[in-house]
Amino acid sequence: MTPLRVLFVCLGNICRSPTAEGVARTIAAAEGRADAFLFDSAGTGDWHVGAPPDPRTVAAAAARGVDLSALRARQFEPVDFERFDLILAMDRSNLRAIEAQRGASRVPARLMLDYAPGPSPRDVPDPYYGGADGFDHVLDLIEAAATALIAGSGALPKAAR
Ligand code: 4NP
Repeated sequence: MTPLRVLFVCLGNICRSPTAEGVARTIAAAEGRADAFLFDSAGTGDWHVGAPPDPRTVAAAAARGVDLSALRARQFEPVDFERFDLILAMDRSNLRAIEAQRGASRVPARLMLDYAPGPSPRDVPDPYYGGADGFDHVLDLIEAAATALIAGSGALPKAAR
C-alpha cells in the first residue's frame, strides 16, 4: 500500500510540528501501522533551519517515550504541496502562511486540531516563550489529534470548527 504522506507545519519547526511528527510516528508504530504513513514537519519561518528541536520540546517528548533528537528544522516550501497528500498546520496563522504559497495545488491543508475529538482549541499554542507546562500542554493536544488522525487513516476531519 502506498503510504499517506503527511506534513506537519508550525512557525519555527523546533517545538510544535516536530512534536507532531514524532508523536504521530510513535503512535503509528505502536499500532503496527508504521508502513501506512510517511510523516515530516516544516516551519513557515526560517530562523531555525538546520537546528534540532528546542531542548524543552525534546525533554517533554522523551518523558512520554517520543524521541525527537534526530529531527532537524527546515522551512516549508511551495514544492511541499507536491510532496505530500495532507498538510496539517498547528495554528491558523501558519495555515494562512501555507495557503498563501498554494498555487494550483489541490492538496488539503487543515488545522491539526480539527482532528481533536471533543471540545478543543483550534490552535496549538506556541510554547516557545512560555514555561515548561506549555510543552506538556502541546503534547496533550497533539497526542489526541494524532491518535484520531491515525485511527482514521488520514481521512479528512468532518468539519472545521
Ligand atoms: P514552533 O515554536 O513554531 O512551535 O517551532 C516557535 C519556535 C521559535 C520561534 C517561534 C515559535 N521563534 O520566533 O524563534
